[in-house]
Amino acid sequence: MKERAHWGSRMGFILAVAGSAVGLANIWRLPYVVGENGGAAFLIIYLLCLALIGFPVFMSEIVIGRTTQLSPGKAFHQIGGNRFWSWIGHGTIVTGFLVSSFYSAVAGWILGYLVESLKGNVSSLNEASDAIHHYNSLIENPFWGVGFHALFLIICVCVLYLGVKEGIERGNKIMMPCLLVVLCLIVIKGVTLPNAMDGIRYLLSPDWSELTPKSVMIALGQAFFTLSLGQGTMVTYGSYLNKDENLIKSCFPVVLVDTGVSILAAIAVFSIVFAGGMQPDSGPGLLFHTLPIIFSQIPGGYLFAVMFFLLVLLAAITSQISAMEPTIAYFQDELGWGRHASATVCGILVFLVGIPSAISYSIMSSCKIWDCNFLDFMSMICSSVLIPLGGFFAVILVGWVWGTHNAIAQLKQGASELFEKNPWLKTYFRFCFKYAAPILILIVFLNALGLFS
Ligand code: PHE
Repeated sequence: MKERAHWGSRMGFILAVAGSAVGLANIWRLPYVVGENGGAAFLIIYLLCLALIGFPVFMSEIVIGRTTQLSPGKAFHQIGGNRFWSWIGHGTIVTGFLVSSFYSAVAGWILGYLVESLKGNVSSLNEASDAIHHYNSLIENPFWGVGFHALFLIICVCVLYLGVKEGIERGNKIMMPCLLVVLCLIVIKGVTLPNAMDGIRYLLSPDWSELTPKSVMIALGQAFFTLSLGQGTMVTYGSYLNKDENLIKSCFPVVLVDTGVSILAAIAVFSIVFAGGMQPDSGPGLLFHTLPIIFSQIPGGYLFAVMFFLLVLLAAITSQISAMEPTIAYFQDELGWGRHASATVCGILVFLVGIPSAISYSIMSSCKIWDCNFLDFMSMICSSVLIPLGGFFAVILVGWVWGTHNAIAQLKQGASELFEKNPWLKTYFRFCFKYAAPILILIVFLNALGLFS
């Protein structure tokens, strides 16, 4: 059997996992859900979800991967010891695959908007009606949607084709620092605009009256999605870690970077939106038709628009490759295919399955499932059902089937000093793996199914 690929360095792992975590959910979704759900009040709930559920589930998945050195299907099987867990593990691969199909369709729009901004079309939209008209004319064109979906995937397959160290790790080592630099430039530009402070004040002042049980559900979904949980990604990335790696030191910075980027992106978006005298609660269209109007009003808007869409594109590429990697690892580990064939076949399949999402606002706009178009339906099923289920089972596997003592023994490997100096770490992990994470996920999940109303 071929030797398993491994990360070249701890920094490489941190950047690759941070690259997976930082994506559309941070830059696109978080600002508008914060805007719709009471500003800082929502942020506080979100941070709680990260500490009590997100981080423990993240560590469970990484530890499953690192311990078994296998792709998710086999990894869950080995730890769970029976076919049920094999099914669950394979199920998470399917979730990752489905996520990658609609994620690529949306990321294709970002790539399309980058091209529009390079052409100068984004920074010349002065009126809200022009921006909306322009947006509609693009997404109602199926060739535009499918074309950029394909182009985006070609970029991702090129990175994946090169393998774990040469492709994913090296790609993230280049793209992540670029992303952070561009983000900082945008934040500096944003906060120095007139009236920007109103935006930051809005972000930092909690409005508890806007917070509903649904907001808590959204905060949990956000914590899961942003950390790329419940879909095999972290199990797969963990499986490329060496056994003597200090997991806490490698993983904690990822959560910090991910949260930091979310907050910086929200600061940037809110200061730009308030500087332009717009409302922050315009929903998903915030990125595509609210920001362009502001880009056309501020000095240097052209460059600013190009940088902004480049930032979002980089974030999307590093996330997309991580959503495709579990399927590729499955092809390699379980079907015995080579890296190149696996990456290519995965790219083609993701392209085909993603087509209905890419045309969900054009040819398929009248095709509704539960009142949603295809893209919204996929996104809803994955983020509200499949992803929380995947995360729930990972933490049940670790906390109840394998046992917290085994998991903590694994966490201690390479980190014994850290655990000796901070005895509370053991209590925290035991409490979260066994009780906090599974119970809270269950409550939020049952609430979403309407059981408490
Ligand atoms: N974490 C990514 C984001 O925040 C999304 C993602 C989901 C990436 C699943 C990989 C797997 O956008």
